[in-house]
Amino acid sequence: MFKQLSLLLLVVQLIARSTAVVKFENLNYELNKDFMHGNIFIKSQNDKYSFGADVEMTKKIEGSVIVTPVLQHLVKDEYHTMLNIDLDTCKVDPLMSENSIVRTIAKESTKFVNFSLMCPYNPGRYLLNDFTLDSESPLLKLIPNGKYKMQLSATHYPTPDSSPIPLFKYSIDFELFHGKS
Ligand SMILES: *[C@@H]1O[C@H](CO)[C@@H](O)[C@H](O)[C@H]1NC(C)=O
Repeated sequence: MFKQLSLLLLVVQLIARSTAVVKFENLNYELNKDFMHGNIFIKSQNDKYSFGADVEMTKKIEGSVIVTPVLQHLVKDEYHTMLNIDLDTCKVDPLMSENSIVRTIAKESTKFVNFSLMCPYNPGRYLLNDFTLDSESPLLKLIPNGKYKMQLSATHYPTPDSSPIPLFKYSIDFELFHGKS
């Protein structure tokens, strides 16, 4: 009886874990060809959406890199900004950010990337493998169900007084729909 119950619990957990809770769409991106080339893409399979990137960095990037995530929530046809912050990834690891949304997205991302989020960024192949969110994701505790626009841009300053060099930017829409809430 106990064995059956724990088996049942395991099955319920596995189902809950694999429940799709996010849908990605409207991806736009630009890469600075002097530093990198590659693809950023959305995949969908059996209603399960994921987001990926396969980018080859051709030059070492160090000095200062300002990464700016912007997260907007669509409420009654209007976008409300939930996050708009400059992160210097050569100074602070996004995993240590004081902002809990940044920290949580960074922590989720490390499960899907094969590189460090902190600079320096050495030449090589950078992969983001099928980033998705499941019903267990801690991000779901921080942001409610609904439609969002997420933008991420990165600007490089090789030296403190150099003029800004745009490295990349992308914008993606996503919808969260987790059962409980
Ligand atoms: C990431 O994985 C790719 C493919 O296996 C590999 O070529 C690349 O060197 C890896 N990148 C890093 C930073 O480890």
